[in-house]
Amino acid sequence: MHNMNKVQMLDFPQNGDERGHLVVVEGNQSIPFEIKRCFYIYGSDKDVVRGNHANRETEFVLINVAGTSKVRVKDGEGNEAIFCLNRPHTGIYLPTMVWKEMYDFSEDSVLLVLASEHYKPEEYIRDYDIYVEEIKKIIKGKNAEN
Ligand code: TYD
Repeated sequence: MHNMNKVQMLDFPQNGDERGHLVVVEGNQSIPFEIKRCFYIYGSDKDVVRGNHANRETEFVLINVAGTSKVRVKDGEGNEAIFCLNRPHTGIYLPTMVWKEMYDFSEDSVLLVLASEHYKPEEYIRDYDIYVEEIKKIIKGKNAEN
């Protein structure tokens, strides 16, 4: 269950009035880390699967500011969970060292991603077998501590 229990949906207040909605997200407040990087994904077809990686150092919050998508999260030990991102005022928090797959993008999907670290390709694990090996090592290290 390494870090999987930290995955959680976040609900942001909507400052709505007759003019529409305004959602605020702030680092170290509603976002549980300082935001160093921000990118967004759009124009992905329904059958595309993105992500397919784990991060050794970066935490993320994903928000579908338009449209919808799904996120499958795995812990490398056989547990997985699926989350629907279908409201501009909710997001999902993803800690380090969870495997993530984003898929089922609606045509109008704009997936905003907030990240705790700048881009460093070497902290991405893009091979699932290597990820499982690293998880095993982490768990072994934890058990040795106890
Ligand atoms: P990639 O990590 O494959 O996207 P996803 O997680 O959605 O599957 O990134 C796509 C390309 O963009 C890849 O060439 C790396 C580049 N990229 C950056 O240069 N900086 C970034 O912060 C990110 C996330 C990606």
